[in-house]
Amino acid sequence: MEKKNIDWSSLGFGYHKTDYRFVANYTNGAWDEGALITDDMITMSECAGVLQYAQTVFEGLKAYTTEDGRIVTFRPDLNGERLESSAARLEIPVFPKERFVDAVTRLVKANEAYVPPYGSGATLYIRPFMFGINPVIGVKPADDYQFRIFCTPVGPYFKGGAKPITIRISDVDRAAPHGTGDIKAGLNYAMSIHNIMDAHRKGFDENLYLDPQTRTKIEETGGANIIFISKDQKTLVTPKSNSILPSITRRSLLYVAEHYLGMKAEEREIYLDEVKDFAEAGLCGTAAVISPVGKIVDHGKEICFPSGMDEMGPVTKKLYDTLTGIQMGRIEAPQGWIHPIC
Ligand code: PLP
Ligand code: COI
Repeated sequence: MEKKNIDWSSLGFGYHKTDYRFVANYTNGAWDEGALITDDMITMSECAGVLQYAQTVFEGLKAYTTEDGRIVTFRPDLNGERLESSAARLEIPVFPKERFVDAVTRLVKANEAYVPPYGSGATLYIRPFMFGINPVIGVKPADDYQFRIFCTPVGPYFKGGAKPITIRISDVDRAAPHGTGDIKAGLNYAMSIHNIMDAHRKGFDENLYLDPQTRTKIEETGGANIIFISKDQKTLVTPKSNSILPSITRRSLLYVAEHYLGMKAEEREIYLDEVKDFAEAGLCGTAAVISPVGKIVDHGKEICFPSGMDEMGPVTKKLYDTLTGIQMGRIEAPQGWIHPIC
């Protein structure tokens, strides 16, 4: 398979149109077969449910070229499961996770020429999403939906790749106490757009949200969960909250810390007041992979991690190397984590 002529190593996190996308339509109460198509444009009513009341949910996962030249995805069954729960919460008909994994597999295979080569620093980002497509004017669910998956080759989410970033404590809440913070719905991101632009204008890379109920506990950032490493380097600590997205990367890192690195892994409430006591911090997610955090700014008060602003802390680096080693076939994966494409 001849690869496309793309300068893989200079890619940022952007959209680059590929040849195929997968599309399935829900009409008359059932999903159709779905198909791979070449048309990247969507035509819909001006009154479509998604345009009026944001009835849409999505996923994000990646395909990797392994050291021995295979193409694989990482735990796509968990993305399929999470999309099922996101859809159910917005009254969108569920697209079964088995069909989800099959569609991802077919899509990546069809776009094989766009899967970045091993060692290029880039990966293929896969974006499944579903939305209400027929006219809806009273506040209610749509009758008809589209499920679509496209993919795009991407580089690092944060400019500078593995360089530590600076994040600020947000004054704005990402999610309500009993709201939708734990599902992957566009509405959770729409609210963050003004806040991220404001953060960037003030020189911060991301916003760190606190729990919306008490504003004393750490939640997550706009596009990633957060992990901390204890001072003695023996424990990975990550927030437990029902208003954050259940990150597949974070769940995988808890396992990696415990079973590959012999560390303790704790999922618990983390108070803002105790963050100063950690040795390292990192944002984790499909797009972010693990992006080290060098500094958290809380209204002018700087919390600087001993790992500094020049490079990833040593434990974060071990976690990063192990996770990406598993994803790229250098390290043996736990049963069922690697889904072969071709
Ligand atoms: N939290 C938010 C708000 C996200 O958008 C993402 C990205 O998917 C994550 C966490 C990380 O989740 P995952 O590791 O499943 O990609
Ligand atoms: C992902 O990591 O897949 C996401 O959806 C995060 C988004 C901010 C790009």
